[in-house]
Amino acid sequence: MKQDMIVILDLGSTENTTIARQIRELGVYSEIHPHDITMDELNALQNVKGIILNGGENRIVDGKAVDVNPVLYECGYPMLAIDHPTAKCDRKMETLPDQLTLREFIFDVCRAQANWNMKNFVEDQVELIRRQVGDRKVLLALSGGVDSSVVAAMLIKAIGRQLVCVHVNHGLMRKNESESVIEVFERQLHANLIYVDATERFLGKLEGVSDPEQKRKIIGGEFIRVFEEEARKLEGIDFLGQGTIYPDIIESGTKTAKMVKSHHNVGGLPEDLKFELVEPLKQLFKDEVRACGVELGLPEDMVYRQPFPGPGLGVRCLGAITRDRLEAVRESDAILREEFARAGLDKKVWQYFTVVPDFKSVGMKNHARVFEYMVIIRAVNTVDAMTASVEKVDWDVLERITKRILTEVENVNRVCYDMSPKPPATIEFE
Ligand code: XMP
Repeated sequence: MKQDMIVILDLGSTENTTIARQIRELGVYSEIHPHDITMDELNALQNVKGIILNGGENRIVDGKAVDVNPVLYECGYPMLAIDHPTAKCDRKMETLPDQLTLREFIFDVCRAQANWNMKNFVEDQVELIRRQVGDRKVLLALSGGVDSSVVAAMLIKAIGRQLVCVHVNHGLMRKNESESVIEVFERQLHANLIYVDATERFLGKLEGVSDPEQKRKIIGGEFIRVFEEEARKLEGIDFLGQGTIYPDIIESGTKTAKMVKSHHNVGGLPEDLKFELVEPLKQLFKDEVRACGVELGLPEDMVYRQPFPGPGLGVRCLGAITRDRLEAVRESDAILREEFARAGLDKKVWQYFTVVPDFKSVGMKNHARVFEYMVIIRAVNTVDAMTASVEKVDWDVLERITKRILTEVENVNRVCYDMSPKPPATIEFE
């Protein structure tokens, strides 16, 4: 193993992630583990140089105080207690902040080396994956989003064609998105890739369905069914690769933190399809996942892409999805992305996309009355997607985009710009 590690035991403090990031900023790898980690689990971790307890026994979760497994106090690793009210100083625990800084604890007490970088992280994960998987096979749903792409690249590096990627095109992808998954993973990285074009199946199920939640349920449910069907066709697969990242774990609730929202990636597979999980990114934050993707040689536009909802363009083709409006969303989105890149806005604006509502309005084309759809442009900035402000796009850029949409996209006679911040609007428009 290349990297030293400081283990943070999660006693419910909301600062754990901040501390993990501070340690990584000092150049030392750090992982957060549940407070009730056993001695065996701790011993199975590689290159542990020290342990930090944060939160303290007085932390009450669901009416019960939490503390670590008492044997850990005797584990022999240097331990630091932050905000640990009954700090067991008799057991040679260090306490912050009066005696010791984080830096001193890590480097002087634990004698950790500042050897955390993406190259070492990738090498370590490759070794761990090989150890876990051996000569067996891993299945991965490769959507083409940042997390699944990075996990695919990592697994390809570790086990090559023992990884089977399944890319399901639900017909709601952006323009050329499935093509670029095939280009990068099959042609460039020589992945074992199964491409499933399920467009007709998804659009058939969605026909006439206008309720946004219902649409999301159908897309999510159908995705799992298609993936399951492919999994059943394959023999001898023991593992499921997942692009779980650290924020997913926090949002789904840890042993000491309440659930924010349910994350279910491909969690909905039936009981008899039991796989052991391979999740090499689960300790990384989003920016680190991107850096990891770059280290693995993925193209920048795949690694630095803006967030895209799982149900894809389905949430941006409002009301019941029709093929003409879906095409209008896809084509106008491609124009918007092209023009934002040309104006340098792709690096500046957090998220930008187009939406097509399910009503028509009157217009004039070639001296004749037309009754057609409108395209709404949305471009927002945010830090955490909880609140967002509207990007003040240069008027000339908006005019150029509008002109292109009105001439190049069929069935559209009007373009609008959404001026609404979040709240009260949401970022998506469904
Ligand atoms: P809202 O519309 O709630 O969106 O303001 C906040 C952010 O979440 C993204 N989003 C999703 N991301 N699966 C995802 O991975 C989804 O189903 C989903 N729905 C919304 C949205 O694009 C925005 O960045």
